[in-house]
Amino acid sequence: MPVLTGLRLLFCLVLLLWCTVAHSQPADEPAYAQANTRGAVATVHPLATRAGMDVLAKGGNAVDAAVAAAVALGVVDGHNSGIGGGAFVLIRTADGKLLALDGRETAPAKAHRDMYVVDGEADTSLSQMGPLASGVPGSVLAYEMAIEQAGAKVYADVLAPAIRLAEEGFEIDNIFAGRLARSADRLARFDGSRAVLLGPDGNPWPRGHTLVQKDLANTLKAIADEGSDYFYQGGFARAVDQWMAANGGLLSAADFAGYKVIARSPILFDYRGYQVVGFPPPSSGGVHTAQILGMLEGHDLKALKDGERYHLIGEAMKLAFADRAHWLGDPDFTQVPKALVSRDYIAAQAGRILLNRALDVTEPGDPLATAEGEPAITDEPASEQDLFFKHTTHIAAADAAGNWVAITTTVNTDFGSKVIVPGTGVVMNNQMDDFSVQPGVPNAYGLVGTEANSVQPGKRPLSSMSPTIVLKDGKPVMTVGAAGGPTIITQVVQAIINHLDLGLPLEEALAKSRIHQQWRPDMLFVEANMPAGVRQELVSRGHKLKEMGPYGSTQAIALDAQGTLIAVSEPRLKARNK
Ligand code: DON
Repeated sequence: MPVLTGLRLLFCLVLLLWCTVAHSQPADEPAYAQANTRGAVATVHPLATRAGMDVLAKGGNAVDAAVAAAVALGVVDGHNSGIGGGAFVLIRTADGKLLALDGRETAPAKAHRDMYVVDGEADTSLSQMGPLASGVPGSVLAYEMAIEQAGAKVYADVLAPAIRLAEEGFEIDNIFAGRLARSADRLARFDGSRAVLLGPDGNPWPRGHTLVQKDLANTLKAIADEGSDYFYQGGFARAVDQWMAANGGLLSAADFAGYKVIARSPILFDYRGYQVVGFPPPSSGGVHTAQILGMLEGHDLKALKDGERYHLIGEAMKLAFADRAHWLGDPDFTQVPKALVSRDYIAAQAGRILLNRALDVTEPGDPLATAEGEPAITDEPASEQDLFFKHTTHIAAADAAGNWVAITTTVNTDFGSKVIVPGTGVVMNNQMDDFSVQPGVPNAYGLVGTEANSVQPGKRPLSSMSPTIVLKDGKPVMTVGAAGGPTIITQVVQAIINHLDLGLPLEEALAKSRIHQQWRPDMLFVEANMPAGVRQELVSRGHKLKEMGPYGSTQAIALDAQGTLIAVSEPRLKARNK
């Protein structure tokens, strides 16, 4: 790898790890997570959490609350997510059904494998910004389906808090202002974005400004009135089609009309008497959460010293991410071997891990060698019934009736493609960058990939978003998810280990120092507060350490010993907010 590319990659990773703590932080006492006798909601923004809790108070269930919070986040935290992006919705209903609704973006019909290759070199500025960066957004339909299949309210009721926040405005907080300032020069290139996000003098709106988003309110109202048809068949699709045609984009009204949310079978994995329910491809979350936990199952993690435990966890992460780069992609376009999550393969991979030495992993594993004849992971629906229905943030919700919900949703990087299509108020995603734009060329998160994740028309880019629900004896005991590109997977794994294996209360489980290893670059990222003794244990085993400031954004809900719902939003956000 050329030195410059390597440095750029390292810089991106450092920025990524740093910026995942930089979520919304209102100045007053922020209620990021709330729980009462009706249920619980955890998000990164108090106004979104309140939107969810209000819907619960009005007779909604956890599905309604999670969607209300998700749509509200798109208004008050629109640098991370919004209806111009995609979502994975994982639900465990009170009567025990599991739904995994894949609202990931799809590549336009006119997209092609080398669309970002200019003079033989990948130009990632094209996949990250402007008209070529967006896929068809899936959140609007995924949320509608979630409400129809498992909610207690109608979509219009659940959209109401977001419409109010867009119409009446909300006060820009420190973090929103910071993200805006950082993106301002790029937002300024697009008329629609300039009109909403920059002031009349061309400067980004500052902290404390009340941001009113009339166009976004009108788009949300039209969805409330006409349902998702407005977005996929109606006025919104037409506005995008016209803007794209005039600005060199490929997305068309036909792409919108053909968009489908896919009801997939979740990845189910037994772990020390728990059943972990993860999101299947095109998320890599479920597969690699299962792999990492599975590789660790042979160890008594609680009995180990921190340094020993972090070593083993980091090694399992490394092996899993090597597989991610090679095997993972949209299962409708590429064969993702089911054997990746087979017991035999995971045991074989675990057998490679040494207690006292970090491995030099040069290649992905070979799941087909250990589990010949295992089929590919497909989008077979979980039941026949499903055939008929169908910079990132995580929403955790649960209710007293026993509905548990995990939604991870994103426009990808800050303000996605930086494009607001004029008149819509909607920030369009830059999820096309999650494809492997050229084999071996890293994306915004330093992730490399192969043909399995190449651009193809209608294909969904590989994701790290990992909404997860953990069951014990068939009943939910924990739901968790995170933001932060590839660190999403490693944050989720550590939350599960810290809470369920080490027995830490949920807040402490999320607060404990994190590590991250993603195979390439071959470095073990450790948080700055990692004790010197632990670092020494890691270095002595051959890990190359890279220190990070506090990073991550995990939201989780679990039951305490009395069976009461406990909701926690990323503890590092609160610390930064003081
Ligand atoms: O789907 C993915 O994996 C990425 N688009 C997620 C982006 C993300 O987490 C950005 N956060 N820092």
